[in-house]
Amino acid sequence: MQQDRELAQVQRAHWQQTYAAHPGMYGDAPSAPAAHAAAAFAASGARDVLELGAGHGRDALFFAQEGFTVQATDFSPTGLEQLRKAAGHRNLAGRVSTTVHDVREPLPLPNASVDAVFAHMLLCMALSTKEIVRLVAEVRRVLRPGGTFVYTVRHTGDAHYGTGIAHGDDIFEHGGFAVHFFDHSLVDTLAKGWMLKEADAFEEGDLPRRLWRITQALPRVHADSTAAPDLVVDGGDLLCVQLLLRLRRETAHAPAGTLVHVRANDPAAPLDLPAWCHLTGHHYLGPVPDTRRATYALRLVTAPIRTRPDAPWHRPERAGRTHQSPQILR
Ligand SMILES: C[S@@+](CC[C@H](N)C(=O)[O-])C[C@H]1O[C@@H](n2cnc3c(N)ncnc32)[C@H](O)[C@@H]1O
Repeated sequence: MQQDRELAQVQRAHWQQTYAAHPGMYGDAPSAPAAHAAAAFAASGARDVLELGAGHGRDALFFAQEGFTVQATDFSPTGLEQLRKAAGHRNLAGRVSTTVHDVREPLPLPNASVDAVFAHMLLCMALSTKEIVRLVAEVRRVLRPGGTFVYTVRHTGDAHYGTGIAHGDDIFEHGGFAVHFFDHSLVDTLAKGWMLKEADAFEEGDLPRRLWRITQALPRVHADSTAAPDLVVDGGDLLCVQLLLRLRRETAHAPAGTLVHVRANDPAAPLDLPAWCHLTGHHYLGPVPDTRRATYALRLVTAPIRTRPDAPWHRPERAGRTHQSPQILR
């Protein structure tokens, strides 16, 4: 943990110095994945885009030029300053805002408030697997139902994988830059509860860097999921296990088709609730937009897979064996 924090601080300083020494280092032209994402976002009817790890903004400016409203975030104020200046020069300042933000922290946006999220070579930075899983849960929280997430990552087929300074958790450092190389199972984990639309391999730069471009989308909310719920489960500040115990108990005798709204302050709820629905077969409908407190909707099905009353993350026939998502095990 302490080690992770130190690595994060060193990385932030390294990116700061790199952008200061090489302003606009990735050039003015948009990346190939940004061109692809802009088409996918437009096709889904998106109007606003959150970009994570935007750097000096080659892609954020392109999205703005394509007519999207863009919120660009990065933990390097130097990179974002270059982005702001370039936006001014290109008369795009009205469509791009910037926020200094470290993706280890919760995203600074309300639930269900953006149509699309883009992250080119950000998830494969010096983030632990746990931090990446938490970040994707955050992306899910801030996306509107039907929203699209396009991300790219270097993978284990990259020439730098397994070489340089090893930091554990498939993170290797070269020339001061630490990279988390993705394998297939990590991509699968991050797609749970999403519709995985595309996973394409491509290359970038002279090395070349070997990357995957992943496009995944949230289901569109059923027309009635924002309607008045049949049952409200107030989870208050309960955390994971306690929240699921209450949810299981309060829905145990509710009929199939019941629309349940779960109010929960636990930042992991957007991860644990879809995982529990995946386990039981209930339909997870996503965050309910425009609520004062974080609220998530689900619809009970006719024949859910039963779980243990004292351990709702276990199926009875698997009692004693561990079968659940790592997040639920916390
Ligand atoms: C490989 S660069 C890609 C920049 C940009 N997406 C592009 O392709 O032009 C990765 C970016 O992620 C940012 N970054 C790395 N770790 C971060 C973190 N924990 N939180 C926010 N930004 C981070 C870096 O400052 C850098 O701008």
